[in-house]
Amino acid sequence: MKILFLTHAFNSLSQRLYLELTGRGHEVSIEFDISDAVALEAVAMHRPDLIVAPFLKRAIHEKIWREQVCLIVHPGIRGDRGPSALDWAILNDEQEWGVTVLQAAAEMDAGSIWASANFPMRAASKSSLYRDEVTEAATTAVLEAVGKFEVGNFMPEPLDYAQPDVRGQWRPAVRQEDRAIDWLRDNTATVLRKIRSADGFPGVLDEVLGEACYLYNAHSETGLRGVPGEVIAHCNGNICRATVDGAVWIGHLKMKQEREPPFKLPAAMVLGKKLAGVTEAEGSWRDIRYEEKNGVGYLHFEFYNGAMSTAQCERLLQAYREATRRDTKVIVLAGGADFWSNGIHLNLIEAADSPADESWRNINAMNDLVLAILATDSHLIIAALQGNAGAGGVFLALAADRVVARKGVVLNPHYKAMGNLYGSEYWTYLLPRRVGAERAGEITGNRLPVGATQAKQLGLIDDCFGSDAAGFRCGVEVLAESLLADVPTLLAKKRAERCLDEQKKPLSVYRAEELAQMKRNFYGFDPSYHVARYNFVHKVPHSRTPRHLALHRRIGGNRRSQI
Ligand code: COA
Repeated sequence: MKILFLTHAFNSLSQRLYLELTGRGHEVSIEFDISDAVALEAVAMHRPDLIVAPFLKRAIHEKIWREQVCLIVHPGIRGDRGPSALDWAILNDEQEWGVTVLQAAAEMDAGSIWASANFPMRAASKSSLYRDEVTEAATTAVLEAVGKFEVGNFMPEPLDYAQPDVRGQWRPAVRQEDRAIDWLRDNTATVLRKIRSADGFPGVLDEVLGEACYLYNAHSETGLRGVPGEVIAHCNGNICRATVDGAVWIGHLKMKQEREPPFKLPAAMVLGKKLAGVTEAEGSWRDIRYEEKNGVGYLHFEFYNGAMSTAQCERLLQAYREATRRDTKVIVLAGGADFWSNGIHLNLIEAADSPADESWRNINAMNDLVLAILATDSHLIIAALQGNAGAGGVFLALAADRVVARKGVVLNPHYKAMGNLYGSEYWTYLLPRRVGAERAGEITGNRLPVGATQAKQLGLIDDCFGSDAAGFRCGVEVLAESLLADVPTLLAKKRAERCLDEQKKPLSVYRAEELAQMKRNFYGFDPSYHVARYNFVHKVPHSRTPRHLALHRRIGGNRRSQI
């Protein structure tokens, strides 16, 4: 079928649905919902059999939904309506939530129901739930709805609050007052729920050391205590605030003031000198964590949004080196629950006095980490991608000896979308090594997401398994332990291959070549990378849909190059 995605952005959920539908032979073209005129034009150009709206922030124009079936993905249970579905589900401590696929109609979210899927709630941020449970449920429900549409004759179920399975209700947008933290009364669980209900957007508005700012990236602290509301410690950019029954770490803040920089940054950086009197202390929660089980080392790195700053790369490299000194034979690089890695930290680069210099430092720190993994011959390294990875984050994973991903993971193994960035992280060595030169060119040039199953078929990764996080983690443990006995043989093979590769072309040459291109991106006459990064960090709305996504706007046909 010809399907048109009408969407606010090509975000993680849209990318996953795109992969599932194109993987089933459908032709999916994408149009960003910029204006009614643009949407109407896209429909006229693509003449789709079906319109799917994976992520919309406003209603579809009446002319479109009156003439075509438009399926809206709503992140709420049957009957739930309104713009803050997940926010309310977290605030109200719902035990079960869901996704409903409904037909666009005159009243927002009140159209007939095509399909729905529910899931048990998890104590996590809104964006974490969105990227994991909501995406899985949306995939199930959209595939079911598209299947029904294809068969024909299906009559969607009109919304009827008298039905026992329609438990939702209309709820207005959450206001800051609805989730304001009362530090003298709210316990840790409540504080976390309030912050998580607004993370990644819009954040909970609060005051920290006299500064009005939005809070993000909160984790519970079990050891440190203090006067409720007070900042009692800071560590690696995070701040710790006491609650009535414990404390919470807050990783990121965004200033409320309109003055620069109005984007999220590590909390300690935003507060700067105001933290002077606060002690630096480690607590029970850490972004980098190492554990061992049955002879396998597991290195977790839970970096907010998968962005890896220079300092984080350096700390991770240090933790990695320590892990390689342990008496283990296999190390699993586990990344974070939400993301494996999204490469260099664009927000911190944007905030730097010299973004070009900071880009340079950051990419070199990433490269040092990749090099350390590539050079390891004491341990077998497994990259285990529970969450998505993008740009340099994908190539960081490819440095490992085995690369496995959770089945639902979406990879974006390309840099070009960031203002034609050339990229480094030894990708010119790592990618052709796995998929061959021609495919490497297609993958990086197409700028399209690659699903875990497709990535396995392409040879980009070795395997994918686990329909949920727990299943994946379990599979990774089994894999790591099963490899233990073969480690000496596998390492001997690795040494021999590395030696041959080094003779053909030293890693230092790959690095120098890539960095020569990156230097042009950072310091050259063409400012594309700096402009793209500014737009990305400042969330400048799209003014058009890129041609590689909008097939209907391509001159000379609809086809994408197949990989
Ligand atoms: N640096 C800083 N922040 C980043 C980031 C990076 N490298 N990659 C993602 N983020 C942030 C986004 O700004 C967003 O922030 P928010 O919490 O304020 O909304 C959040 O992570 C999620 O990103 P989003 O784009 O909404 O997620 P997605 O799953 O829809 O898309 C990517 C994932 C990877 C396609 C997209 O985030 C991306 O293109 N990132 C940039 C990758 C890159 O070019 N890295 C630099 C070169 S190595």
